[in-house]
Amino acid sequence: MVEIKELGEHVGESVTVRGWVEATRGHGKVSFTVVRDGTGILQGVLVKSETDDATWDAQQSLTQESLVAVTGEVREDARAPGGYELGISAIEVLSMADEYPIQPKDHGVDFLLDHRHLWLRSSLQRAGLRIRSEVQQAIHDFFYTRDFVRIDTPILTGAIGEHAGTLFQTDYFGEPAYLAQTGQLYVEAACPAFRRVYCFGPTFRAEKSKTRRHLTEFWMCEPEVAFADSNDNMRLQEEFVSYLVERALERCQEDLKVLERDTSKLEMVRPPFPRMSYTAAVDFLKGKGADVEWGRDLGAADENMLMEEHDIPLFVHDYPKQAKAFYMKENPADPRTVLCDDLLAPEGYGEIIGGSQREDDLVRLGERIREQELPEAAYAWYMDLRRYGTFPHSGFGLGLERTVAWITGRHHIREMIPFPRLMNRLYP
Ligand code: 4AD
Ligand code: MG
Repeated sequence: MVEIKELGEHVGESVTVRGWVEATRGHGKVSFTVVRDGTGILQGVLVKSETDDATWDAQQSLTQESLVAVTGEVREDARAPGGYELGISAIEVLSMADEYPIQPKDHGVDFLLDHRHLWLRSSLQRAGLRIRSEVQQAIHDFFYTRDFVRIDTPILTGAIGEHAGTLFQTDYFGEPAYLAQTGQLYVEAACPAFRRVYCFGPTFRAEKSKTRRHLTEFWMCEPEVAFADSNDNMRLQEEFVSYLVERALERCQEDLKVLERDTSKLEMVRPPFPRMSYTAAVDFLKGKGADVEWGRDLGAADENMLMEEHDIPLFVHDYPKQAKAFYMKENPADPRTVLCDDLLAPEGYGEIIGGSQREDDLVRLGERIREQELPEAAYAWYMDLRRYGTFPHSGFGLGLERTVAWITGRHHIREMIPFPRLMNRLYP
């Protein structure tokens, strides 16, 4: 048994490949069987005059997604997908598939999501998810080579991480618990132990919006660095994002091709990224006639308008305090604002990172928690970090699915996670 990706080493030999039938075509004199084994695609050719009836009939009876073992001689063929062809001498049907629901035609997205467990096998989905996997590995490599310690943060939490609006609450032996919206508060706690840390795992938000940018379960990577200010934080972000894009370009050429991604757009992504203050962004948007008001967070439409002028990601920094989370540090130069940034991706993909310098002053942090009417007791341990050797620190969170949607050029982030959780979708 050989894997399709190794066929180049077996030209002229007879081998057996095991895999799923993607398609069959041809009748009369010659038939073709396209087999996928997870490492590649192979076209098998059967010539009726050169084979026995049993083998011919077996080929003719194959249904899409049946599992087969095909044996034959490996031939080089530039026209074949993958560059090799198999001259079939024998077909063993290991498992005949029922009529496959996903056909090579346009299915509605609801149908495809209902069949996500099967849709995963399709070529665009394979390409997207392989790029996701590469980006995940690149995330770990980036931080590993920069001496960050990986900290796994809890999913079941007692304190609200971001804001009260989008919590999944569950019962924890009679006490309310929340699925983590972020690992940030915990990586902050690990910072004095290791200086540079990060977490990377699933996070949960009960988003009642059905947009192309929102999942209720998504993966977030959150580094946290002691002694880094907001400027250092943005520098780390631009290096990080550029590295992820570069890794995809370097190692996922085939998949990007399958997705028909215009990679020239990605090749431009290099540090430094342009920066614009929130206040300047509001002025710019007002100049364009947008309905914005200083003080409110920017919405998707505002972000898209800002990005019309940019081919590479843009930092928007120093948002108004009231628009952002309680833990962000007040800006000494303008106390109406906080030292934070959102990184906006080009081509309509919106915010891929939210980051900030953290409030390290015990009194001010307490005020912010009270202002936002968060339950103080739940943050007692977090306040301790400001009581025992408080230190300047910054960090950010990169949303994996939004980042991968941008890199792959796919419209909706639901395709960028194997089993998307959306407001109206818990299956499969
Ligand atoms: O801006 P957010 O809410 O920031 C935080 O959670 C901070 N605690 C991060 C930190 O400083 N450590 O979320 C960060 C990123 C967003 O920029 C976006 O990419 C992604 O997480 N994100 C979502 N992705 C998919 N679906 C959702 N519902 C998302 N909400 C946020
Ligand atoms: Mg944000």
